[in-house]
Amino acid sequence: MKTRSVGIVGVGHVGAHCAYSLAVQGIVDELVLVDVKEQKVISECQDLRDSVSYLPHRVEVRGGTYEDLKDCDIVVISVGTIMGEDHSRLAELKHSVELVNSFVGRIVKAGFDGIFIVITNPCDIIARQVQKLSGFPASRVFATGTGLDSARLRTVLARETGIDHKSLVAYTMGEHGDSQMVPWSHVTVNGKPLDQLAKENPNKYQVDKEAVLHETIEGGWVTFAGKGATEFGICSTLARLVFCVFHDEKAVMPVSTQLNGQYGQHDLYISTPCVIGKDGVEEVLELTLTPEEMAAFQHSCDVIRTNIGYIEE
Ligand code: LAC
Repeated sequence: MKTRSVGIVGVGHVGAHCAYSLAVQGIVDELVLVDVKEQKVISECQDLRDSVSYLPHRVEVRGGTYEDLKDCDIVVISVGTIMGEDHSRLAELKHSVELVNSFVGRIVKAGFDGIFIVITNPCDIIARQVQKLSGFPASRVFATGTGLDSARLRTVLARETGIDHKSLVAYTMGEHGDSQMVPWSHVTVNGKPLDQLAKENPNKYQVDKEAVLHETIEGGWVTFAGKGATEFGICSTLARLVFCVFHDEKAVMPVSTQLNGQYGQHDLYISTPCVIGKDGVEEVLELTLTPEEMAAFQHSCDVIRTNIGYIEE
């Protein structure tokens, strides 16, 4: 039997919740936790092990070094501060780059040959950096990106339309940040365009698109305001992605991936819907966007590109 093993680098609020989500949903057999704070690793391992008796199945939990991640199938990178006080994920850029620069090479050198999933913000730029540091094919390095924001979008739309989250095909694309956009022409209620439904039944389906996008983007800050971190949304997004890989699900989810010509972009990590399976990002879906949507998406690409410029100066 093959062990499904996930390593987590950075076990702060986010990393610890990712570990627990993976364990409690029965998605992993083994967790390897790594953090520069030794006692934090010891304490999280203890707490997780104490939950195993009541979990769906047994999970081996241990702490380790970067080198101990070599046999993992997936390594999750969740180091760093998750959000700055100044409401900008980009403010974390310099520190996050320094952090990943310090350990990605060690993990790869030790023999790790799996999939990196990046959460550390600004995750689009950090995923790009991790891909470059690792030399892995881009399919095996991606970031949670707007997978999380898309969950926030569906939360708002489910409330507004009265339709369950899972029957809504709706996601945001672009930067995991303020410049993300919604390709409204692709938003459907199980295949029927929301725009068409809004014409037929405005009372139920007409939404204020600007307000919906605003609330989606603000969701993370609402969470941050009272708890100083976001945890449940991001760990559920991560767990879903890990599940898709282990089950070779070929599910379509927006993640931050490398564009190679799609939308006219090259050498840029940004979120667009992708097919996720055992090999990571197995296909990048390029949507046909309306001119307005394309302009908004290109603006988001420009925002990321400008910020990449700051680390390459
Ligand atoms: C958030 C962090 C993870 O949006 O970026 O919750």
